[in-house]
Amino acid sequence: GITRGFSSSASLNAVKTVTVVGGGLMGSGIAQVAAQAGQNVTIIDINPELLEKAQKSIQTNLTRVGKKLYKGDEAKIADFVKESAERIRVSTNLEDGADVDLIVEAIVEKLDVKQELFNKLDVLSPPRTIFATNTSCISVNAIGAGIQRKDRYGGLHFFNPVPVMRLLEVIKCDSTSEETYQTMMEWGKSVGKTCITCKDTPGFVVNRLLGPYSAEAIRMLERGDASKEDIDIGMKLGAGLPMGPFELADYTGLDTNRLAQQALYSMTKNEVFAPIELLEKMVAEGKYGIKSGEGFYKYN
Ligand code: CAA
Ligand code: NAD
Repeated sequence: GITRGFSSSASLNAVKTVTVVGGGLMGSGIAQVAAQAGQNVTIIDINPELLEKAQKSIQTNLTRVGKKLYKGDEAKIADFVKESAERIRVSTNLEDGADVDLIVEAIVEKLDVKQELFNKLDVLSPPRTIFATNTSCISVNAIGAGIQRKDRYGGLHFFNPVPVMRLLEVIKCDSTSEETYQTMMEWGKSVGKTCITCKDTPGFVVNRLLGPYSAEAIRMLERGDASKEDIDIGMKLGAGLPMGPFELADYTGLDTNRLAQQALYSMTKNEVFAPIELLEKMVAEGKYGIKSGEGFYKYN
């Protein structure tokens, strides 16, 4: 399922320079697919250690993609990895990433932190720069409420792991201009994704359906209906999914999973998204899943 992406040079509005704010799980993947497609990328993060971690994981994942693209041709694989990696620079200074064609925000899933970031960028960036949020479940409109360029703003929601998952949800707000929407769709194609369009509704398409599934799985475990291992095996072998719900929650990050459920609950008032004691407890204990070394399972 990995695609290198297509050249978007035919378009007037082709995105050539991209900034990704937030270099965690998602930001590093988004930066990678843009660099693979030949675009120049800047990753901004407040945490220099996470920028270093991002560069390492991009190197590893570029090699995985390169091996698939250029089966056995070691020279071509090495060139692909080197050239793609060289298109990525990193910085802790937001100003270094402000003057680009497209900025994709992939920072922590908190409304006020995202709003503050976009308000700052709105001042720093030239008028041509399109802004997009990769939020899982917060309202795109609410995140951009304070910016002037509402016509040049929307949602670009990727899936983890970004280099592998083929979908991109393009969120068109009422204020998103047709030109901005088309540019976002075209950019999605340029980085190798199949785009679907969704209005700015809670959880968009995929998380609106995955959220209740994930929440109910955790409640099953809490009730003692079945073990986490058996629930995971059940959904893999019985529903044909690549990961069970606990493997997926650990992979997504329990902290992000919890914040996303919170956002869905506050918007829909649907009790299925109400806080779950077990999840609250695990996040409070710092059990975030793979990224912290322990979640429902242990990793090292
Ligand atoms: N970068 C590049 N390549 C990667 C990669 C990465 N980060 N992760 C895996 N791969 C490649 C591997 O190299 C491997 O390639 P080959 O087929 O050439 O060997 C291939 O993908 C399969 O990987 P693995 O053999 O390691 O393991 P797997 O078969 O279990 O696949 C997986 C891993 C693709 C993650 C698969 O388990 C999967 O699809 N899981 C479900 C993921 C999912 O549901 N994501 C969506 C979550 S919801 C979301 O993201 C939205 C939100 O807002 C929370
Ligand atoms: P993560 O915790 O792996 O990374 C977040 C990064 O943002 C961290 O490196 C952190 O240092 C940085 N950050 C926080 N505040 C910042 C700020 N003000 N300025 C710059 N950097 C800042 O999280 P993630 O899983 O990559 O999620 C990022 C976003 O993507 C969230 O909105 C999340 O809901 C969304 N998302 C996550 C997934 C997933 O499966 N994990 C999938 C799709 C979308």
